[in-house]
Amino acid sequence: MMQRHYLIGYLVRSAIGFFNSSHAVIQSGLENNPNRDPFKVTIAGQGFYIVTNPDHVIEVYKNKTTLSFDVFVEDLMLSCGASRETVAKMAMSPPPYVSDTKASSLNPHGKSLVGLAVDFHHTQLLPGPNSQVAPLTSAFLGHITEFLAWKNIRDDAKIKGPRTPTSIERTSLLRFCGRVLIEAGTRTYWGERLWQLAPNMLETFYDLDHTVWKLLFRFPPMFSKDANLARDTIIDILGKYYKLPLHQREDAAWWTKAMEAESRAIGLTEQEMAATILIIYFVVNGNTYKMCFWVLCHILSNPTLHTAIKAELSASNPTAEPSMQHLTTHCPLLDSTLSEVLRLYTSSASMRYIDADTPIGGKLLRKGNRIMLPYRSMHENPDVFGHDAATFDAARFVKAPALRRNASYHPFGGGATLCAGRFLARQEVLRFIGTALYLYDIELVEKVGGGKQKFPRVDGFKPTFGMMATLEGDDFEVSITARGS
Ligand code: HEM
Repeated sequence: MMQRHYLIGYLVRSAIGFFNSSHAVIQSGLENNPNRDPFKVTIAGQGFYIVTNPDHVIEVYKNKTTLSFDVFVEDLMLSCGASRETVAKMAMSPPPYVSDTKASSLNPHGKSLVGLAVDFHHTQLLPGPNSQVAPLTSAFLGHITEFLAWKNIRDDAKIKGPRTPTSIERTSLLRFCGRVLIEAGTRTYWGERLWQLAPNMLETFYDLDHTVWKLLFRFPPMFSKDANLARDTIIDILGKYYKLPLHQREDAAWWTKAMEAESRAIGLTEQEMAATILIIYFVVNGNTYKMCFWVLCHILSNPTLHTAIKAELSASNPTAEPSMQHLTTHCPLLDSTLSEVLRLYTSSASMRYIDADTPIGGKLLRKGNRIMLPYRSMHENPDVFGHDAATFDAARFVKAPALRRNASYHPFGGGATLCAGRFLARQEVLRFIGTALYLYDIELVEKVGGGKQKFPRVDGFKPTFGMMATLEGDDFEVSITARGS
């Protein structure tokens, strides 16, 4: 066991070089490979088969017998600070329930906690029997509307910038999106108390967000002090939160309470629970604020698009905030803009471990290697998305709606690891954009000293779990004026 983890640590460190330039490596692997057949890249002796042909991708998704992914979830928890003993307990099936705990009613089939957490995500986030998605969605969208209200924005010291009685004259667009969505996510999943425990939670989250890739690739400690500090600070806050009496945390989401009950039943301490949950804290909060940011970057920098989307939003009732029904059924250009942002600003890869030799695309992929499905190179495939595949076209999915179902379009991953939060994420973004553009006139301001701001550059080098960030320091500055004032 010990040896295996040293090996993984070494492997992932060696993989940094590959992942930093993975997009370029993959593109060059596809150059003389018109059928996009699987090809193998070896990193520090470990083989990765790169699969990008959509038919082969589907074969990978469908295979639940010889391909697995638990090892990647376990590695993620280790990277995020969970101990080997804790992860081993969480991987045991049936779970090692402590002697005075009866087998849990939440786990009738005796699944490992790693497997159970996935089932719980599905119950929490997807429709189906016993679904808990309705209360979660309602709480999440309610927080977004509440935090966007002028009385909250106006007095919020975390949204920096000079004020008039009805406007903020210059502020960061990225921080504006983060301010609303990160607090909304935290409160929805953990309730009021977690946010109250840590006045600097927002800044600590940004610190984690910027550095989490170092944890995932087990960067040497001397270069990861910032990442370790952010990780340990959040684990500490979550640990304190789990020590609070349950009656102070009744407003937490079903998933949070169910995982806590199961984790306590196998004897995890509050600190251990916190370390295993950290990655979920990140998953809940790390993507949607960046998606809102990129969507607004394109809307605000293109006056024709801006006017068209505002017209869509107000079409059924110009004097009220657009309803979710209106946003999901009467705003085709906004919907297409969201789909195009997901196409060009996500950079994730699904991973599978090969437990036994497996044929994919007519080629035998050998046991012990890994399979990587790199979505960014599929999203930029000109054979699917056309000669302008590399450029942003807000109307692309209006002109070709079937692209959303194309086998080369996977912004939320796929198969057994398909993002369970995909429907919620879309609603969060629609609610944020719909309410923000109804309540405010948001405009790009001139650079300090005059002139047009440059469009923020995307950081395509760091590995991500979904949305790509901006290059360090890139942002748009905007003015936010309460409408009707
Ligand atoms: C724009 C927003 C989002 C994007 C682009 C995104 C993307 C992804 C991707 C690429 C994966 C991995 C898929 C794979 O390995 O095949 C994933 C997994 C996951 N995401 Fe999302 N995500 C988003 C928002 C959310 C939100 C808001 C939540 C929950 C509140 C969420 C919950 C999850 C969960 C629980 C998983 C793990 C899947 C599982 O183990 O069942 N995601 N997401």
